[in-house]
Amino acid sequence: MTLPPNVHDAEPIPEAAKEAIDALMQSGDLFRYTAPQDAPVALLEAEFAELLGTKYALAVSSCSAALFLSLKALGLPRDARVLIPGFTFAAVPSSVIHADCIPVLCEVGENYRIDMADFEAKLDSVQAVIISHMRGHTSDMDAIMALCDARDIPVIEDAAHSLGTTWHGKNIGTIGKVGCFSFQSYKMINAGEGGILISNDADLVARAVIMSGAYEHNWKKHKGPHGDNSPELEEAFVRWQNKLPLYNLRLNNLSAAVIRPQIPELARRVRDGLANHDYVAGRLNTSPHIDVPAPLPPEQRAPDSIQFNLVGLQEHEIRAFAAAAEARGVKVQVFGLSQDNARAFWNWQFLPETFELPQTRDMLMKACDVRLPVRLTRAELDVIADILLAAVGEVTGPMPVYGT
Ligand SMILES: Cc1ncc(COP(=O)(O)O)c(C=O)c1O
Repeated sequence: MTLPPNVHDAEPIPEAAKEAIDALMQSGDLFRYTAPQDAPVALLEAEFAELLGTKYALAVSSCSAALFLSLKALGLPRDARVLIPGFTFAAVPSSVIHADCIPVLCEVGENYRIDMADFEAKLDSVQAVIISHMRGHTSDMDAIMALCDARDIPVIEDAAHSLGTTWHGKNIGTIGKVGCFSFQSYKMINAGEGGILISNDADLVARAVIMSGAYEHNWKKHKGPHGDNSPELEEAFVRWQNKLPLYNLRLNNLSAAVIRPQIPELARRVRDGLANHDYVAGRLNTSPHIDVPAPLPPEQRAPDSIQFNLVGLQEHEIRAFAAAAEARGVKVQVFGLSQDNARAFWNWQFLPETFELPQTRDMLMKACDVRLPVRLTRAELDVIADILLAAVGEVTGPMPVYGT
């Protein structure tokens, strides 16, 4: 029998990283602004912008830093209200507070996507929006952009989990004014920590670059598309020179050396991750007590985990299901049931205002989360699906068998 797989380790970092890291160890050149040009961080930015099809990219220390800098670069005044989904990671409202703004939470549906009625109802009271594509589930970006564009409200895409996801064939992270990605270990590209911000807006990027810690004239090492000089970016840098605080949220060359060789692996990881997810989803959906929400039609997902709702189960049965799965070797996180969960909005007690989101709360009390790293084999996926189905069967009784 195949044992339950280890779902915590990421894929090995490609061998090519070792050579680049050795060279950096030899030279000691770890700071992104020491080399006159082509530092690993600068090369990463050029490669990432090209991969996603945007003009500019700024690599920083985390996705949280990218979100914070995006809000700062928008020039929002103190206490500006920023709409975020009620289902996201605590880092998102935290970045809003870090930027001296006030998070406003909106309802999320059973399919983990933003509830458009609540979004629209709250939109006129905010000055910016962060769309967290939580666990890579894309909200209705057509409706969101139409509503926000009509009001001239800037949209920041929190694409921490969405690298490789597309919407009508367009890369997630390129639809709003700015997109933010994470290189933390449980993401498609793993550097332990790290993040990147992308945008086509030269003024916004220049502000973010300076505030990320490009002191004095280090901004001259930031280029435009294909690593070429960009006059509009240079003009923006000159405009903002000495006018902005420096928050020092830079990425170092070692992290870039770990990230860059993973970029050519991305297409395969996305393909395998989606195939794995859809295979397990198909098996889980055979249970009347499990529902894996379908993607929205324009969305092509890039998952490395699976989320599903338990249907018709009481709270004690949901707890019993999670315990039964864990006893068999598969850890299930029920977002709303684990103590102090950072994705349950009622635990964000640092917010200046509180929000009642009954629909989101209801979803979080039955929504389950299981990691599915893209390297898992079909046999390992079967072990996970078998365990989850057996655990739900243990709680609800065996599945009905319909004879002829
Ligand atoms: C939805 C979401 N946004 C943002 C972040 C923050 O990413 P980072 O850890 O790179 O700051 C996370 C972290 O996992 C996340 O889940």
